[in-house]
Amino acid sequence: MGRVPIVAGNWKMNKNPEEGFSFVDEVQNLLLEIKHVSIIFAPPFTGLFEMNVHPPFYSAAQNCHWESNGAFTGEVSVSMIKECGAKYVIIGHSERRHIFGELDDWINKKLKAILNVGLSPILCVGETIDQRDKGQTEQILYEQLDEGLRGITNFEDCVIAYEPVWAIGTGVTADNEQVRLAHSAIRDILKNKLKGSDDVHILYGGSVNSANAEDLIQIEGVDGFLIGGASLQLDSFTSIARTVEMVQEKKL
Ligand code: 13P
Repeated sequence: MGRVPIVAGNWKMNKNPEEGFSFVDEVQNLLLEIKHVSIIFAPPFTGLFEMNVHPPFYSAAQNCHWESNGAFTGEVSVSMIKECGAKYVIIGHSERRHIFGELDDWINKKLKAILNVGLSPILCVGETIDQRDKGQTEQILYEQLDEGLRGITNFEDCVIAYEPVWAIGTGVTADNEQVRLAHSAIRDILKNKLKGSDDVHILYGGSVNSANAEDLIQIEGVDGFLIGGASLQLDSFTSIARTVEMVQEKKL
């Protein structure tokens, strides 16, 4: 069996708990026909506890701390997240790396903590425009994966999200060839350098919307999406989910 595609919505710092609750309810009701795609909602922490999701719908946190408890003001542990019913935790998002100064070493500790409690990390990697222009894309992907996954031998429960920093929230999507090459580089890194498994999903993120989703999901090596802006609206999010379902159904 191949990899079941994933459509994940990263709400970032949007939707109050009540809004989030009714949004999730509506999406699940609108997408009753979805059978071949996993749909993930990643609300702010405040919305996680109330989230009422049923497979193939799942919830995710947008961050975590690696310690199980203690004097870490403002942080949330993986066991707290697990108890809220989440299955995934996003880590290493470019906004956390660039705005909040997250280091690969922290991301690695978070990843281990997530796997230790039986949750799945969604590890984000991606180059800045400067790094791309200098021809460093593959090197950056290697470094982020090598450091993020350090010490992990069994990471089939991991999801990787390729999110070129310059495509996030800009309306500029990486072109098909750039996406194909980056995904294939990530797959090679997982296979050759890190003894990875074919089960690892590699998602694309960066200005995905209902107009470009059909094209993007058909690129070789793209196992789904991590969506920001377009995951906040009912029509765009459900339309992207339906597109991925339709493309997947044709393959089966
Ligand atoms: P946009 O879809 O708004 O570009 O955001 C992508 C993203 O950062 C998802 O994590």
